[in-house]
Order: sequence, then structure tokens, then C-alpha cells
Amino acid sequence: MKVMQVFMRNSLRNFNYILYSELNNKAIFVDPLDIDKTMPIAIAKGLEPAYLLNTHGHGDHTKDNKKFLESTNASHLQLDDGEEYQLSQRESIKAIHTPGHTKDGFCFVLMTDGKAHSVISGDTLFNAGVGNCKNGGDVETLYKTITEKISKFPDNLLVYPGHDYLLNNLEFAKTVEEDNEKINELIDIRKSQSMDDEFMVTSMKIEREINPFLRLEKLKTKTHHKDEKELFFELRSKRDQW
Ligand SMILES: [Fe+2]
Repeated sequence: MKVMQVFMRNSLRNFNYILYSELNNKAIFVDPLDIDKTMPIAIAKGLEPAYLLNTHGHGDHTKDNKKFLESTNASHLQLDDGEEYQLSQRESIKAIHTPGHTKDGFCFVLMTDGKAHSVISGDTLFNAGVGNCKNGGDVETLYKTITEKISKFPDNLLVYPGHDYLLNNLEFAKTVEEDNEKINELIDIRKSQSMDDEFMVTSMKIEREINPFLRLEKLKTKTHHKDEKELFFELRSKRDQW
């Protein structure tokens, strides 16, 4: 399964995704914010807009749901936790309920020939960060989702989040862990890129090196913290005020 990442060029820095099968050209539109931007891309590639998928119900992820469904023959995929949807003979999507940022949050793991290769992580997991809990979320639930589900994802998974917050998240991560060379290296790379035209795709392996919310065990030792959950709450609250 292929992933097209489309930057919405808005102040919230949303990404929309077009997931598609190379075998049957069927496309899944994820979190359509502005289909005037994504539809021409899909059409130019000869894709059939066949499905709609949402990572969660926030307005900046659902705005063009109706417009998309009314202007195509697409159906709205609503998968349960653990459910796998077969897009073609060889390609499937597995839904994982990941509440915390919102109650209804889902991540979607993309698989080809039964092998997971990417995750559409919505606003649950960002590059170098996690979603906030300000609008219908809950930090304790997010902690459980991150430590019990997200942290179990394999190293090779490529991470495709709902927003480009990479540079801000890295700058925050640096305040938590100044001597982390990987964080400094990625800050330099991100700063050398065009902010609106180039994007870095991280893997779970990289996330484990840079994302403070996935580094609780290491940070606990470094900061002489007693409790990982407490540390998670502290990080989330510091990032909210940062
Ligand atoms: Fe959100």
C-alpha cells in the first residue's frame, strides 16, 4: 500500500493522506480537510476515491467528510479496534483504538503481504511528540495508549501523523534532554528544509531515540524521577505551556 502525504498549507499544519493500492488503484482519503487540494492529486494519478477514513472527530480532520462523500461513490470506513480491512489481495489496514487525545482516536497500521510498514497516527503520535488532551482528551488514557499500544509498534513502522509539528516538538525535546545528539541532528536537518514543501518521515526506531514520551524509562533515570506515569504527566503539562 502506498502513502501520499499532502500538506494543507494552513496554520494548524495539517497533513491529509491518500492511501492507495497499486493493484486496484482504489484510494482511501484520510481526514479530509480540503478535498480541493487532494482530489486533483488522486485524479491525476488515476486513483478511484473509494473510501473515507478518520483518525478522530476533531473538525480539522473531518471538515470535508460530507463534501467528499457527496462528490464521490466512496464509503465511510468505520473499523473497530483490532479490525483489519483488506484493500486488495495483498494490502490491508489494521485499526487500533488509541484514545487519549480524544476518546474516539484511532491509529491505522498499513500492511502489505501481512507485513506492517507504516502507521497513520492521527493526533495520537506526532513526530517527536504526542497529541495534547485539551479538547476532549485525557492524559491518563493517553499514557496508557502510548505505553501499552504505541510503544509496542515495531521499529520499522514509518510514522505519518496528522500535523507537521516536528520542529517545535524537537525544540521541546531538546529542553528535556539537551545532550541527545539525535535530537540536535534532526533539528539541523529540519531547519535546512523548506518548512512548507519538504517533510521528514520518521520511523518508530527514530521516535524511540527522539520522542520524550517514548523515552520515559531513559528519562526517568536521567532526571531521577520516581515514576514513569508522573513523568509523562509532567512532560505533557510542560509541553502544553511551552
Ligand atoms: Fe485533533
